[in-house]
Amino acid sequence: MAKIIKAPKGLEGVVVDTTRISNVNAELSKLFYRGHEVAKLSREKSFDEVAYILVYDTIPSEEELTNFCANEKSYRPIDKATQEMLIALKDAHPMDALRTAISFLGAKKPERSFDISTSVNQDKFLHLYAQIPTIIAFHYRFSKGLDFIAPDDKLTRSENFFNMCFGSIPSESVLTAFEVSMILYAEHSFNASTFSARVITSTTSDLHSAVTGAIGALKGPLHGGANEQVMYALNELLKSNNTDVWLKSQLEKKRKIMGFGHRVYKNGDSRVPTMQKHLELLATTDEQKALLKKQKELAQSMLNSKGILPNLDYPAGPAYHIMGFDIPTFTPIFVMSRIVGWSAHIIEQTENNRIIRPLSEYIGK
Ligand code: COA
Repeated sequence: MAKIIKAPKGLEGVVVDTTRISNVNAELSKLFYRGHEVAKLSREKSFDEVAYILVYDTIPSEEELTNFCANEKSYRPIDKATQEMLIALKDAHPMDALRTAISFLGAKKPERSFDISTSVNQDKFLHLYAQIPTIIAFHYRFSKGLDFIAPDDKLTRSENFFNMCFGSIPSESVLTAFEVSMILYAEHSFNASTFSARVITSTTSDLHSAVTGAIGALKGPLHGGANEQVMYALNELLKSNNTDVWLKSQLEKKRKIMGFGHRVYKNGDSRVPTMQKHLELLATTDEQKALLKKQKELAQSMLNSKGILPNLDYPAGPAYHIMGFDIPTFTPIFVMSRIVGWSAHIIEQTENNRIIRPLSEYIGK
């Protein structure tokens, strides 16, 4: 019998396994993907290159990147059955529709349901990497009564996503901010959704099952769902004259202020300065500047009263709002990026697996 170790609630401070995928350095407030500093990657690489580095553990050659992007483009369309399923879910929250669509896609190829080899997992990843934006855009437009815009293989993944949602490609600054958000959201070690994916994978279940579970975990407002809650809170704050008073009333009601705090970073989230810079570049109209002013005031007020710093969701939420997305689309956009980190972890767990099965202390009757 192995020695029994009692872990703290929420597994705080517990190292459960090793990983070569990313390193969250809380002391230095830095994040590394496969040894590369993420702030640097966000200045120098496209999201496709970062996705390749994370999943295939190497910087792609020009030819490898061209092939990767060509495959991504060819996998973008979704079939009639998936479209019909999304139509049936037109009133659902987009995260619920996306989670169901991934599960549906996983059931469509029964011959691959139990195939967890690395080459098949990489192929399943690339299909989802290509199809998730199409699923989100299809549901987005259909729920508004708009016609679907088919994927365009002359466009990059990000350009194509905007085109499928809005029928146009935005300015360079919007595209850059979007790509940067994709890079920053791509991977973050053993967070709740990634750990969920690894737990499911550890039973030797398949990639679609693990991703479906991970989407369920990401949806929660304490995790990825926070980027939506940030925008709801900022909209409420915009109606109030005094940020300090608004914050005090929220804290008195024992409410969590969304987009603040982090289990690992206690001296600030390494990704915030990069995303905040892009949010500030995006805010050009009077309305957007008023939103930015409130966003900065609340961060200062929170620091003064609680000493708690923002996390990535705090600048990402308003950035997606300025880009023109509806609030319920924010967490699905997070999935467009995090599919990369999840897939890398699913492959890593599979290649060096032991079932994850902790104990519980019985305190019942
Ligand atoms: N608003 C108000 N108070 C907060 C807070 C927030 N966003 N985040 C942490 N705190 C307070 C807690 O109330 C607690 O205070 P207490 O000791 O007086 O009870 C203290 O800070 C420690 O927080 P705790 O909830 O124990 O931290 P955690 O590591 O368990 O949780 C989060 C981390 C991220 C879940 C938590 O900070 C949170 O709920 N944040 C808001 C949701 C969010 O932005 N999630 C995205 C994460 S990337």
